[in-house]
Amino acid sequence: MGLNAEWMQRDLAVLWHPCTQMKDHERLPVIPIRRGEGVWLEDFEGKRYLDAVSSWWVNVFGHANPRINQRIKDQVDQLEHVILAGFSHQPVVELSERLVRLTPEGLSRVFYADNGSSGIEVALKMSYHYWQNIGQPSKKRFVTLTNSYHGETVAAMSVGDVALFTETYKSLLLDTLKVPSPDCYFRAEGQSWEDHSRVMFEHMERTLEQHHHEVAAVIVEPLIQGAGGMRMYHPIYLKLLREACDRYGVHLIHDEIAVGFGRTGSMFACEQAGITPDFLVLSKALTGGYLPMAAVLTTDKVYQAFYDDYSTLRAFLHSHTYTGNPLACTAALATLDIFEQDRVIEANKALAARMASSTAHLADHPHVAEIRQTGMALAIEMVQDKTSRAAYPWQERRGLKVYQHALERGAMLRPLGNVVYFLPPYVITPEEIDFLAEVASEGIDIACRDSVSVAVSGLYPDHRDPG
Ligand SMILES: Cc1ncc(COP(=O)(O)O)c(C=O)c1O
Repeated sequence: MGLNAEWMQRDLAVLWHPCTQMKDHERLPVIPIRRGEGVWLEDFEGKRYLDAVSSWWVNVFGHANPRINQRIKDQVDQLEHVILAGFSHQPVVELSERLVRLTPEGLSRVFYADNGSSGIEVALKMSYHYWQNIGQPSKKRFVTLTNSYHGETVAAMSVGDVALFTETYKSLLLDTLKVPSPDCYFRAEGQSWEDHSRVMFEHMERTLEQHHHEVAAVIVEPLIQGAGGMRMYHPIYLKLLREACDRYGVHLIHDEIAVGFGRTGSMFACEQAGITPDFLVLSKALTGGYLPMAAVLTTDKVYQAFYDDYSTLRAFLHSHTYTGNPLACTAALATLDIFEQDRVIEANKALAARMASSTAHLADHPHVAEIRQTGMALAIEMVQDKTSRAAYPWQERRGLKVYQHALERGAMLRPLGNVVYFLPPYVITPEEIDFLAEVASEGIDIACRDSVSVAVSGLYPDHRDPG
């Protein structure tokens, strides 16, 4: 037995993998990774895979980046962890100062959690609690967009709308108000992203007008709905939303867990709309993809609503054990240094242009409905019928065929249902982008050529997994 097979066997004997129907592994290999270097992952038999999705959208400066590695090595000899209630440390203070400086004017306080979903829980609870503290307890509902994804803990699922993740649990979820997404895939022929986003805002305006007295906050994934299929919209929507939230006295929560740190072409997506949300939730690339951490930034106004004598019981008593972990903070500081020293946002423009040019030929593919791009995220939507845009039935698992082909060719391209996308680390080279485009083109040809017998049936479409 080869080394890969040996590790796979040991793995499958004891592990339960995330976002996976484990029975799939009766025919799909689990790929054991021994080491990583830059955009490449290497298995136990020396085969390399280009990490086209930044290992679930976290890795921005490559695997085993020597600059981040060294900082973590230095920190681990100083302090690996300390409780953040009542105690503090240098990396957490420096990182908080840095995040306040880097994010839009008005965000002045940083609260930490230890993963994206927990960061969302913090923002939702803080908003709800704020209205309690200022004597408006009726403001307790959340407005969310259709097709959104904010994580998988119960409140985070409640504000999400990707059926694959929420349907089973719906009787557990909070009662939220869902507004049609500005998703520009559905714009009329000839309509611009801006016009479509503007028109779609009408739904939000009406919901807020009607419900603002009972609404605590609106939560959005700014510019890109990631797990919902890398669906995109124009920054005008965020600008209009900020204005409406101010008009109606409702908080605005920006979930920039996936899009923060340069993914949309600016450091944070909210910059493109020129706005400051009331809560900005960051995670994933925050630590360069090294360690789990989330940061929730908010305003002094929110902070002051909790600041009082202990006996008033207004404090935010939320806590996660690993809050502000020094190693994670150090990884984040090293990551921010690279952004600054290498002028990454500027440099990414050429890479984004290469992503566009290397995939442009796919626009003529008979089963590609759209190629869309925002900054360093590019998505290719496969459809059964190009004219009507009829989707392939999800049960056919066309994306999985692209995934399997890419693995054979040495790339980890993990589609979202019928959407093939590139969300690579920013250290990818132009030639590596061309390689990805070549592999994706071949994979799409194979996936769309075969007639497929439907193996399973079910009620809802899949996303995030390569189904
Ligand atoms: C926009 C968005 N919000 C929240 C989350 C949840 O983050 P985590 O998986 O770290 O809990 C994700 C993860 O993909 C995400 O894309």
